Amino acid sequence: MNASIAVVTGGTRGIGLVIADRLLQRGFSLAITYKDDEKSAERAMQYLDGRKTADQHILTLRGDAGDPDTVAAHHRTVHGELGAVSVLVNNAGIMPAKLLEEISVQEWDETIRINLSGAFYWCRQVVPGMKEMKFGRIVNISSIAARGGGVIGPHYAASKAGMLGLTRYAARELGPYGVTVNAIAPAFIEDAGIFADWSDEKKAVLKEKVLVPRLGTSDDVARAFEYLLDSPFVTGVTLDVNGGAFMI
Ligand SMILES: NC(=O)c1ccc[n+]([C@@H]2O[C@H](COP(=O)([O-])OP(=O)(O)OC[C@H]3O[C@@H](n4cnc5c(N)ncnc54)[C@H](OP(=O)(O)O)[C@@H]3O)[C@@H](O)[C@H]2O)c1
Repeated sequence: MNASIAVVTGGTRGIGLVIADRLLQRGFSLAITYKDDEKSAERAMQYLDGRKTADQHILTLRGDAGDPDTVAAHHRTVHGELGAVSVLVNNAGIMPAKLLEEISVQEWDETIRINLSGAFYWCRQVVPGMKEMKFGRIVNISSIAARGGGVIGPHYAASKAGMLGLTRYAARELGPYGVTVNAIAPAFIEDAGIFADWSDEKKAVLKEKVLVPRLGTSDDVARAFEYLLDSPFVTGVTLDVNGGAFMI
């Protein structure tokens, strides 16, 4: 690896925090973003601070990943304080569960804006630097919902399926510059997002949807991420981290 600055959007908890920690253990300096949960951000900062070396730096940036001006400002801060970004993980996302006929236009737009447009806003900030470095890794955290529709709602499924189109197009355009662009489609990650607060009873229902004898963890997603980080000949793919849920 020829550069060592990474951005993880939504890196203050759940899957994003575990990926951020992996990058830290590999020597990266990091920026992690979040929307507004200060407590999680402080906890994440304390945790990561205790695990970094003296020459590594961590920035915690508050603001909406679905707002292009905020993303541009965050990128200016990262570039100014840490340097050019070589690894981008578009992980920030919301999962507001609603049925098709219940979703308002505003809710639809907000989910697409944060989950999909936010990934594009970050890509367009970091791509010029990656092209110049002739190196880059972009990993978009999609979802099983992009494949089979999922259970959150059409707004969520559409936002996550859109990420796969963005991934494939960007892989095509950026491949010649040594920049790989891939996606991970997790499912049933029991220590993150909405599932983190579920009772064992509720989780038992999820277990019926997978082949292996347990649910997924953020660690499983981070392992897929590390594979993509280390794989210069893998681009434009989606890694399904779902315990075999497709086969049931
Ligand atoms: N958990 C699963 O089973 C699962 C399955 C498939 C896909 N995914 C996807 O994996 C990604 C991470 O999910 P997770 O379960 O780890 O989520 P999580 O625990 O709910 O964490 C979400 C993170 O994203 C941040 N975030 C939310 N909206 C944001 C916005 N508008 N701007 C900037 N940051 C924002 C949150 O910040 P605040 O704390 O400030 O809100 C938090 O840091 C998401 O894209 C999700 O769709 C998760």
